[in-house]
Amino acid sequence: MAEDRIENLNEEEKALAQTALDVREKAYAPYSHFKVGAALLGDTGQVFTGCNVENASFGATICAERMAVGAAVSQGVKHFVKLAIATGSQPPGSPCGICRQVLHEFSPDLEILLVNPAGQLRRAVLKDLLPLGFSGADLESK
Ligand code: THU
Repeated sequence: MAEDRIENLNEEEKALAQTALDVREKAYAPYSHFKVGAALLGDTGQVFTGCNVENASFGATICAERMAVGAAVSQGVKHFVKLAIATGSQPPGSPCGICRQVLHEFSPDLEILLVNPAGQLRRAVLKDLLPLGFSGADLESK
């Protein structure tokens, strides 16, 4: 995974990274204290955000990435170009397996920027993070 710095990004990517860092501050994570923010750029140019929302029943926790996907789909946007994910990890953390699968449903070629408040950046492409992801095509060829 390529490592870089947020300040070297172009203005559009820098803004997406900053949005993810900003929404991370809104995370509700009283149990893990691990805050995550996501900023998802749709093919319409709109940006949808999400943060993790934990629950005392731990399994009811919602990840930041899936919240951003839900926000987009609820606005009729189902094709995504880029996703910035902000964590406090050093180097920046990557999305969990469930979120990879949910993102794969809509955009297997999604470009992902992993960032943290220290300005570290890692780049990934979803299909590299989830090779052979399950898809609707698998259901059709049973
Ligand atoms: N979390 C996310 O929001 N996204 C991920 O991809 C990884 C994990 C959240 C869930 C939980 O609130 C906390 O991080 C620790 O697992």
